[in-house]
Amino acid sequence: MAAANQFSISRTEISGVSVADLAKEFGTPTYVYDSAKIAERINDLKKFDVIRYAQKANSNIAILDFMRRHGVVVDAVSVGEIHRAIAAGYSISGEPDPIVYTADIFDKSILEFIKENAIHCNAGSPDMITQLGEVRSGAEITLRINPGFGHGHSQKTNTGGDSSKHGIWHDQVPECIERAKSAGVTISGLHMHIGSGTDFEHLSQVCESMKATALEIGSSINTISAGGGLPTPYKESDEMIDIDRYFELWDATRKELEAQFGHPISLEIEPGRYLSAESGYLIAEIRAIKKMGEKLYYLVDAGFNNLARPIMYGSYHPISISSSNESTEVVNAIVGGPLCESGDIFTQEEGGFVCSRALPTANVGDHLIIECAGAYGFVMSSNYNSKPFAAEVLLHGGKPHLIRQRQTNEDLIRGEFIPDLN
Ligand code: LLP
Repeated sequence: MAAANQFSISRTEISGVSVADLAKEFGTPTYVYDSAKIAERINDLKKFDVIRYAQKANSNIAILDFMRRHGVVVDAVSVGEIHRAIAAGYSISGEPDPIVYTADIFDKSILEFIKENAIHCNAGSPDMITQLGEVRSGAEITLRINPGFGHGHSQKTNTGGDSSKHGIWHDQVPECIERAKSAGVTISGLHMHIGSGTDFEHLSQVCESMKATALEIGSSINTISAGGGLPTPYKESDEMIDIDRYFELWDATRKELEAQFGHPISLEIEPGRYLSAESGYLIAEIRAIKKMGEKLYYLVDAGFNNLARPIMYGSYHPISISSSNESTEVVNAIVGGPLCESGDIFTQEEGGFVCSRALPTANVGDHLIIECAGAYGFVMSSNYNSKPFAAEVLLHGGKPHLIRQRQTNEDLIRGEFIPDLN
C-alpha cells in the first residue's frame, strides 16, 4: 500500500507558485487547486471503464472542464449541477452518459428538465421510477440500491443502512421491477454508494450485494457503478487506498455478471473526494495572535463560512504556515476564523472539542494554508456573517488562473428587496 502524502507545517509554495504571490495577486481567503494533482488521481482510476466525477465535491466549471478534457464524465444531483456540466462543455446524452442525475427525489425543476432533455437518471427511491415513466416513457433508468449497510468517516456521511435516507432498500427490488414494467422504463444499471471516506473492507462488501441484486433484475443490466467514497489522506498516518486491489474485486464481479448475462457490462466508479481533495488549498492570512489563559490562538480571515468540514464533522485538515519569520520554533496553537461564533475553529474534533496543533511560530500578516481542501470545501461555503465567497484559482502549467472572482458586498445583497411598507 502506498504511503500517504508527507504533510509539512511550513510551506512557501504550492506546485512551484509562491503562496505570498498568490495571496498578493488574489487576496485572502482564496482557494487554490493544483491541476496536476487532479490529473494524477484521474490516472490512478483509468482501469475503470467510466470515471464519473461526483461534482458535488467541487463543481467550479473550470474543474469540470478539466475533468472533461481528461475523459471524466459527471454525476449531477440537481438541475444546477446539470447546468454547470453543460457550461463546462458536457452534452446531455452520449455513450457513456456524459451527465447522470442521481438523487433520492425528483423535484419539480428536474422533472421539467427531463421532459425536454433525455438525461439519464439514477433513482434512489422507488417513486422516482413511476415519476420518470410519467414524463419520459421508454427511458432507461439505473437504480441506486442501499445494501442495508454502510460506512463513512462520520455518521453524517454514512449513506447505507436503515438510518440513511439514501437509495432503494435492497429488498424492494421486486417492487421496483414491477414499477418499471408499469411505467414503461427499463432498468439498465445498478449503483451502490455506501458512504464517504469509508475504508477498503466496507467498500469491498458491496460487490456481493451488487451481484445478487443484478441477478435478481436480470440481463437488462448493462452498467454497474461502485459509487464513490474512496478515502484520501488527510493525515500522515492515512494510507492511500489500494486501487488495483479494489478494481480487481469489482472487475471479478463484473465478469461474473457478464458470464451470466452473455453481454458486456460497463464498470463505473463515482468518486468526488478522491479526485479533488488533495488538489485544494485554502490560503488565509493570520490577522490576530492572542493568548486566552494558557491557550494560543491564531485567528485568520477564513472561517467555517469558507470551509465547513471541521465544524460539521470534526474533520482534520493539514495546516501549514508561510511565514516571514525564519525561526524553526514550533508552538501549539488553536486556529480560528473571524465569525461571531465560538465553533469557528479549524482545529476541532467531532463534538466541537477544540484542540491545538503544532505549528511554526508566526506573525500577524503571515499566511496560513489549510490543505486537502479541494473536496467539500468551497462548495459548502455560506455567506454567514455576510462574508463574501472566497476567490478560486486553478494552478496549471506553473501559472495561476482565476476561476472564480471573490464575491463583492453588492453580490451579497443582490436579489434582496425592501418592500414598500408605507
Ligand atoms: N456518489 C454519491 C451518490 C454520493 O452521494 C457521493 C457523496 C459521492 C458519490 C462522492 O463521495 P466521495 O467520493 O466524495 O466520498 N460533505 C461530506 C461528504 C458528503 C458526500 C455526499 N455524497 C464531507 O465533507 O466529507
